[in-house]
Amino acid sequence: MLAAAGTAGLGGCSDAFPSEALEAWRGPPADAELRRWAVAHAILAPNSHNRQPWLVDLREPDTILLRVDRERLLPMTDPWFRQILVSQGTFLEALVMALAQRGQQARVEMFPQGAFAPRAVDDRPVARITWTRPESGDARDPLFPFLLRRHTAKVDYDTSRPVLPQAIQALQSGLVDPGVRFGATLEPARLQALRQLCEESARVELRTPRTVMESAQLTRVGPQEIARHRDGISINSPMLRLASAVGLYDRSQPPAEGSTAFDQVMARFSGHSRTAMGFVWLSTPTARHAAAGMTRHAEVQAGRAYLRLQLRATALGLQMHPMSQAPQEFPEMKPWYDRLHQLLLGQPAEQETVQMFCRIGYCAEQQHTPRRPLETFLRS
Ligand SMILES: Cc1cc2nc3c(=O)[nH]c(=O)nc-3n(C[C@H](O)[C@H](O)[C@H](O)COP(=O)(O)O)c2cc1C
Repeated sequence: MLAAAGTAGLGGCSDAFPSEALEAWRGPPADAELRRWAVAHAILAPNSHNRQPWLVDLREPDTILLRVDRERLLPMTDPWFRQILVSQGTFLEALVMALAQRGQQARVEMFPQGAFAPRAVDDRPVARITWTRPESGDARDPLFPFLLRRHTAKVDYDTSRPVLPQAIQALQSGLVDPGVRFGATLEPARLQALRQLCEESARVELRTPRTVMESAQLTRVGPQEIARHRDGISINSPMLRLASAVGLYDRSQPPAEGSTAFDQVMARFSGHSRTAMGFVWLSTPTARHAAAGMTRHAEVQAGRAYLRLQLRATALGLQMHPMSQAPQEFPEMKPWYDRLHQLLLGQPAEQETVQMFCRIGYCAEQQHTPRRPLETFLRS
């Protein structure tokens, strides 16, 4: 009752995001210029914390240069910027698919001015993309139609609906890069250990003031904030809007352990962890890439594979939600990071790096997350 009364003054009691924040999901006009049309699809790619860390340089004709937007890093939870590089890969794969949809075969030149150091990013391009029209054949990718439907469902999954082994086989069939390894489990004992790891690692992130504050500062509550930023973690539930409006949801300091705020966030993580009906992951060989100076390439390649995996999941009606706490590299997470690598790969991260770790399951369709306007990505 209190919530209903309070939210009436807060612009209604729907948790739907404001329509202008979701404009990008309507897709670009069919007759848009090729590069803009392709980039308008690529900005729909999944990316860490919905930072949308992409700068697109169109100043060279018939070319797209992709750079990291260094204003949009996550230095506390992603201190080596690995997830930011994975998020360049998801963008790149969507871009290549979109070009193919318009009959163009992309040529992707990775790090054309040299790769970043393994734990740094700079202003040099991640990729230079050009294209040609193939003389014969159909370049279109069967996963393209799912780009506009894909989303990351961050809700509890239906525990009465198991994921079948056939779904795992079907998922894997969408992958094309043999350099990125795929793993999955539906086995109850392993699931239990991984669910517990998700929950414990979320608690570590929540207990570490600088990592929890990084997320708090990127949390947008209510239609005005969501429409203004169109990025980050968007929350529009009437209860939280009300709590925020009356000062009960404080984003200016870390929630104390045992406080209502801490328990509420933890309950959300626990629900997600406990309802994981399976897990999938992507990994790449660490030492081999380090020796070849290809660590950053591997991260981008993993992102490209992840987009394909999530699009394949979309095609199957299956949900896929990254649980990136344990794979994070900040020092307080190290014991859980090591345990994750042992549980998934049976070897340490020095040998094989987990690039994406996700729960899977089923739930009702969820709304899309916001995207910034196309023009804000472009340098032309
Ligand atoms: C590298 C990477 C890491 C991610 N980690 C998480 C995570 O730990 N928790 C989460 O809820 N979503 C995670 N996501 C999903 C993003 O939050 C999601 O893609 C973003 O909010 C945009 O939403 P959308 O996928 O529905 O378009 C991750 C995505 C990527 C690419």
